[in-house]
Amino acid sequence: MTRHVIIGAGQAGLQIVESLRKEGFSGEIALIGDEASAPYQRPPLSKKYLLGQITAERLLFRAPEHYGRLGVELRLSTRVTAIDPAAHTVTLAEGSQLEWDRLALATGARVRKLGVPGAEDPRVHVLRGVEDAEALRQGLEQAARVVVIGGGFIGLEVAAIARKLGLEVKVVEAQSRVLPRVVAPLVSTFFHELHTGHGVRILLDQQVAALVPSADALTVQTQDGTVIPADLVVVGIGVLPNTELAEAAGLACDAGIVVDEFARTSHPHIVSAGDCTRHRNLLFAAPHRLESVQNAVDQAKVAASTMLDAPVPYAQVPWFWSDQYDVKLQMVGISTGHDSLVVRGVPGPDGFSVFYRSGDRVIAVDSINKPAEHMAARKLIAAGGQCDPERLADTSTDLKTLLQ
Ligand code: APR
Repeated sequence: MTRHVIIGAGQAGLQIVESLRKEGFSGEIALIGDEASAPYQRPPLSKKYLLGQITAERLLFRAPEHYGRLGVELRLSTRVTAIDPAAHTVTLAEGSQLEWDRLALATGARVRKLGVPGAEDPRVHVLRGVEDAEALRQGLEQAARVVVIGGGFIGLEVAAIARKLGLEVKVVEAQSRVLPRVVAPLVSTFFHELHTGHGVRILLDQQVAALVPSADALTVQTQDGTVIPADLVVVGIGVLPNTELAEAAGLACDAGIVVDEFARTSHPHIVSAGDCTRHRNLLFAAPHRLESVQNAVDQAKVAASTMLDAPVPYAQVPWFWSDQYDVKLQMVGISTGHDSLVVRGVPGPDGFSVFYRSGDRVIAVDSINKPAEHMAARKLIAAGGQCDPERLADTSTDLKTLLQ
């Protein structure tokens, strides 16, 4: 019987499985993941889960019985140690081998480590998986002073939760503004002020030199000599794609597993989807790697179509979100390469949107507490993004009318 194997039981891996069955594949499917939990949602880990508002069980995409019903062999706490593309096998950590007809890599990404003395102290936390989140949640219960290293999405979401829990919070960011990777400076300024308004102290342009342990504190020392005592440190300095298995198997990798618009790797029978891929999207000239739920889901559907020899190319507008306090940031498109901005509304509590333009086209939009504008922006970008900037900036213009 035909057997398809998926490595990585995260959002992309599960979507591949669901799509294979939905499209009528009736052969064997093995979904292999090294985490102990069945596939679960990660975004709430740095939000409701950390606040203790939802349980780990509620994070599960599917009840455990579902996998049996789908006829899927779900192998948890299982690491794949090697892929043999020529023999069409994978080797599992305990030594057994599994044959496949088509293989999918949905290996995701892992946290980047802070390579300074003291970074292995048990008071240092990261946040990627449910076990990390559980350890952090428990740690926050015991802590009074929290230092967050990295003012990106994870760092700022954790900072917001820690403030909600009433803890003292300081954020140490290496760059000259928070959220420097993806948003425009004025959006960074809005989030900086949001956090300082909630009592967070933000230190910018600061490189951490060491974490110095003592009985009553773990002290963060920066390269300019600043010392910040903490009970708990959270490191959120970005993620790295898990490409090692692919590289060892000889698949093309370039800061991500390289795939074409059909999610195909450099081997014709191996696909890859999600955070681990450097992929082609027909809506963009250059390949890129994205960390997002949208990409995991949509690219997984493409990967499944290729596994079934009915390939559909990837052409989806990317979107992302972040929740901090009572602010929802929603982003659509990729702002890289923009040459002008249009701001709609006034940065402040009533919400606003920032349109990133390249020439006469809108290529990305950040909306802050403006969900209707975000939805209209998705349509605008999917339609090519051409529109009059003056009408965009005019809050009396209904964005939906710009599409007509
Ligand atoms: N010290 C302080 N800050 C640093 C350091 C350092 N040594 N190295 C990097 N940073 C900063 C970056 O400048 C950036 O602002 O850490 C931040 C990392 O932010 P992101 O790239 O957004 O990564 P992170 O917050 O870890 O989130 C990782 O998880 O939830 C998902 O979608 C989210 O893709 C994101 C991923």
